[in-house]
Amino acid sequence: MSCGAEFSSRKARSINNMDETVILGIESSCDDTSAAVLRGRTLLSNVIASQKVHIEYGGVIPELASRAHQQNIIPVVDTAIKDAGIRVGEIDAIAFTRGPGLLGSLLVGVSFAKGLSLSRDIPLVEVNHLEGHILSHFIDLPDRRLPHPAYPFLCLLVSGGHTQIVEVRSYHDMEIIGTTIDDAAGEAFDKCAKVMGLPYPGGPVIDRLAKEGDGEKFKFAKPSVKGYDYSFSGLKTSFLYFLRDRMAEEPDFIEKNRSDLCASLQKTIIDILLAKLLRAAKDKGITEIAAAGGVSANSGLRIRLEEEGRRQKWNVYLPELKFTTDNAAMIAMAGYFRYMQGEFSSLDITPAARAEGLARR
Ligand code: KG4
Ligand code: ZN
Repeated sequence: MSCGAEFSSRKARSINNMDETVILGIESSCDDTSAAVLRGRTLLSNVIASQKVHIEYGGVIPELASRAHQQNIIPVVDTAIKDAGIRVGEIDAIAFTRGPGLLGSLLVGVSFAKGLSLSRDIPLVEVNHLEGHILSHFIDLPDRRLPHPAYPFLCLLVSGGHTQIVEVRSYHDMEIIGTTIDDAAGEAFDKCAKVMGLPYPGGPVIDRLAKEGDGEKFKFAKPSVKGYDYSFSGLKTSFLYFLRDRMAEEPDFIEKNRSDLCASLQKTIIDILLAKLLRAAKDKGITEIAAAGGVSANSGLRIRLEEEGRRQKWNVYLPELKFTTDNAAMIAMAGYFRYMQGEFSSLDITPAARAEGLARR
């Protein structure tokens, strides 16, 4: 079954005035259920239900995430529509995260989007979650225009599942020029936090504790990886062994040094991230530099990017904190660009746990 033709005729009607186009975005790739409404590029609402059920397990449990999405999706969408002050009938298209992500989580958002698309007879627009993070830089707020990077720009995309440098030549022309060969930066934060007995997700906790610590106190091994690629699994292992050795001599080593450990670990992660970004920017001659993804909320990373920006004469774009971690506003924004091109999905679309939308060329 393919409903593409039916929907493309609708495209011709609504694309006339994109600034008035209303897009409902749905995000359910991991452990946040989110819905957002955009009118043109202006965000009218962005509702996020973060699942607390995973905290006691120290990580996301896919089965529980899927179940929580089922519980949250209707109230979250309902609230997003009410907050936006629109009627369901005003929605011109539904943008949803097709992947990458957890299959059981994605299924909830995809199925919901299909149901609404069918019942309202409006186009369905699939979005690559990573593309969403990057294009969050083009969202405007009702009371202010946010700074948007100019093409081409480099985006340091750092999240719990991904660590990439993406060369963005336009909203539909992106190339991953560097990626992690093992763990993501967010995973390094979360796993090292777990070793220190800190709660999940560890990234924000380390960020907070690092503010009181000395980032030069402890040194951890930095990887040597080719090109613009990253590796974080070695850091996790070296951190683990370092703690094991120190605790053999001093059992309460972690308690006594917690903030210095956090600051030193955070500094190492940031050093690793920035070294490759710097090299890529120099080689490519690109001075528009953006960051995106959950780890771009890190205050140390934000400060260092600003400092490096001044030194290198970059224009640095840091997302508003609410657009760093998973949210549907970014999905609606990416959906807007796809909608504009008439890139609609048919009703037989299925989630792609490993999305290949940002093809490496
Ligand atoms: O983008 P995101 O919400 O989900 C994925 O797509 O993965 O990113 C979540 C990741 C987690 O690893 C979390 O620990 C990390 O982002 N994170 C942070 C901070 N806030 C969230 N890491 C470091 N510092 C933060 N302030
Ligand atoms: Zn994400």
